[in-house]
Amino acid sequence: MRFTALLPFACAVVAFILSMLCLFAGHKRGFMEDYHILTVNTSTLGHNLFNDTASSSSGIFGSLFSNITNTIENDLDGALDDLADKLSKELGIEQWYSLHLMDLCEGTYAPNATANRAKKNVTSCTNETAMYHFDLEKTLNEQLSVGDLHINLSDIGWPDTIQDDVNKVNVALDATFVLYVIGIAAAGLLILTSFVSVFLNGSRLVSFGNWGLAVISFLTLLAASIIVTVFQDKAASAINKYGNDIGAYAYKGKKYLIITWVSVAVMFLAVLAWMVEFCVGRRNSRREYTEKRIKGPRSRKWGPTPRRALT
Ligand SMILES: *[C@@H]1O[C@H](CO)[C@@H](O)[C@H](O)[C@H]1NC(C)=O
Ligand SMILES: *[C@@H]1O[C@H](CO)[C@@H](O)[C@H](O)[C@H]1NC(C)=O
Ligand SMILES: *[C@@H]1O[C@H](CO)[C@@H](O)[C@H](O)[C@H]1NC(C)=O
Ligand SMILES: *[C@@H]1O[C@H](CO)[C@@H](O)[C@H](O)[C@H]1NC(C)=O
Ligand SMILES: *[C@@H]1O[C@H](CO)[C@@H](O)[C@H](O)[C@H]1NC(C)=O
Ligand SMILES: *[C@@H]1O[C@H](CO)[C@@H](O)[C@H](O)[C@H]1NC(C)=O
Repeated sequence: MRFTALLPFACAVVAFILSMLCLFAGHKRGFMEDYHILTVNTSTLGHNLFNDTASSSSGIFGSLFSNITNTIENDLDGALDDLADKLSKELGIEQWYSLHLMDLCEGTYAPNATANRAKKNVTSCTNETAMYHFDLEKTLNEQLSVGDLHINLSDIGWPDTIQDDVNKVNVALDATFVLYVIGIAAAGLLILTSFVSVFLNGSRLVSFGNWGLAVISFLTLLAASIIVTVFQDKAASAINKYGNDIGAYAYKGKKYLIITWVSVAVMFLAVLAWMVEFCVGRRNSRREYTEKRIKGPRSRKWGPTPRRALT
């Protein structure tokens, strides 16, 4: 038994589980929805249409806006107070959209969008795919076009800049799937080889191999985490910069960041632990060698016979 190998073994198990969760969080309806990469609150998207109503009272836009206002005012009995809760329904969109590594989920807030600590009620998720391409503009336009008002994002004043900016970081996000898979595979192998090292006194070569697996897993998880962190930052700031005025708010997924960075940290511990095992192993094998040389004849009974030839 080599108890010192238990620590890197435990690290590999934790990193494996956490990075699996990073990959699969939100991959189907309601599974770890809170561990999103990004959520966009669209409950007030298009509220600006109402401020514009007065100024644009003529032409096609004028009639469109008064149509919207009439439709909604009829629904609300003239009260625009709970606009946040009705607007998305009128437009035919959801109140929030949240991006996960393999899909996009959408739904409503419960009990309502403005409630304190509102919960997310998931309506549906897209089919999961290895490299989900985050295109909120396309999703929203598709839903708006089949909505009651048959409008599109340009009618609301959604600038193309938002999707253009998100697209710049979307490509990098595609790579994260592959990086997580490599990181998880290396961590999984490391679990097996560390387990073997705990029970069999692995040679230095085994320690070196374990160290190599830990390094591969650490580097890929690190790269994936950096990409996700940068993506969150860029996408959220693009949406908030241009979207807040028209009622779209992006929130970064803090819980996701925590699990992805903890998996990086524990894998780093595993790297250090295997490095120590390797170095200690080297000192031990040198000591063994010298001890055997000194006690040569006495240990011959148990030791391997060719040892003698070395003296
Ligand atoms: C107004 O809304 C009705 C349905 O509520 C729709 O049939 C009509 O085309 C709309 N008018 C305009 C100008 O958008
Ligand atoms: C939203 O829910 C909260 C808590 O249930 C309630 O106090 C509030 O009146 C609701 N708001 C609207 C607009 O329905
Ligand atoms: C969640 O949404 C479903 C419809 O998608 C609805 O039937 C259910 O009542 C909602 N739950 C809450 C708590 O609002
Ligand atoms: C969604 O955005 C609206 C508008 O800013 C805000 O009033 C509401 O509290 C937000 N809801 C949640 C659950 O974040
Ligand atoms: C999602 O998957 C189901 C079957 O699993 C399929 O019937 C459906 O067409 C898929 N939807 C899309 C948008 O690919
Ligand atoms: C959006 O709708 C307006 C008319 O309401 C149309 O002129 C415009 O081309 C549409 N834009 C897109 C991107 O479909």
